[in-house]
Amino acid sequence: MSPAAAPDKAGRPAREDGSVPRHVAIIMDGNGRWAKKRGLPRVAGHRAGAEAVRRTLRAAVKNGVEVVTLYAFSSENWRRSEEEVSDLKGLLGYYLERELESLAKEGVRLKLIGDYSAFGPDLSKRLEKAMTKLQPSNRLTLVVALNYGSRAEIAQAAQKLAVKVGEGSLDPSAIDESLVAAELQTNDLPELDLLIRTSGEVRLSNFLLWQAAYAELMFTPTLWPDFGEAEFEAAIDQYASRERRFGGR
Ligand code: FPP
Repeated sequence: MSPAAAPDKAGRPAREDGSVPRHVAIIMDGNGRWAKKRGLPRVAGHRAGAEAVRRTLRAAVKNGVEVVTLYAFSSENWRRSEEEVSDLKGLLGYYLERELESLAKEGVRLKLIGDYSAFGPDLSKRLEKAMTKLQPSNRLTLVVALNYGSRAEIAQAAQKLAVKVGEGSLDPSAIDESLVAAELQTNDLPELDLLIRTSGEVRLSNFLLWQAAYAELMFTPTLWPDFGEAEFEAAIDQYASRERRFGGR
């Protein structure tokens, strides 16, 4: 990768060629297969996955990425066993509490998308406490998608617009892409530049469908628990080497 130029106002390193994606999203896949290969329970794969989250965030901060959005729990993940759902919930609360100090020190802010209230009052309170504590940070925004589904998000945006039309405050002919985008939960984030999925699966699985319209897509065979700084930087390098044309040619 090219060396960093002077850091920006938030202390982020900047590449001279401006080739760093501002917003990277990751479908963290392969925890179960990683554990199975080692004869371990699935929860061991998720625990190792949480370590990969830590390494990835550090690499993102180091490389000057502004936003990392992680697909931690999809609205389809409720179909997993009760035990696995409870393990994932436990791990999430544990990870955030254990990492809170170092996330704050690294300047990481937390934002949640999806309906996390479905995880119950206990985890919801812990998540909210973490968001409050990390509120002043401005170096990297970590967006965690919890009980998230992209079609539901788009349907809710349509509902909100329909309410405004019903109230008479919005003319249907005024509804355009920017008004739809403004009703999505990602409305305060920069455009998604790069979407990575690990473990060799080549699907979006109902993740950021609207937001990924012009994103570069990368699929790597690496299982999520094996993902780290080297893989993250390789993805950024590949991103920098692709010429983005936004459909212009
Ligand atoms: C997919 O692997 C992974 C998940 C559904 C959960 C991801 C959660 C973590 C990494 C835990 C920590 C998260 C944060 C944000 C701290 P899989 O179980 O579908 O793997 P498989 O396809 O090999 O079975």
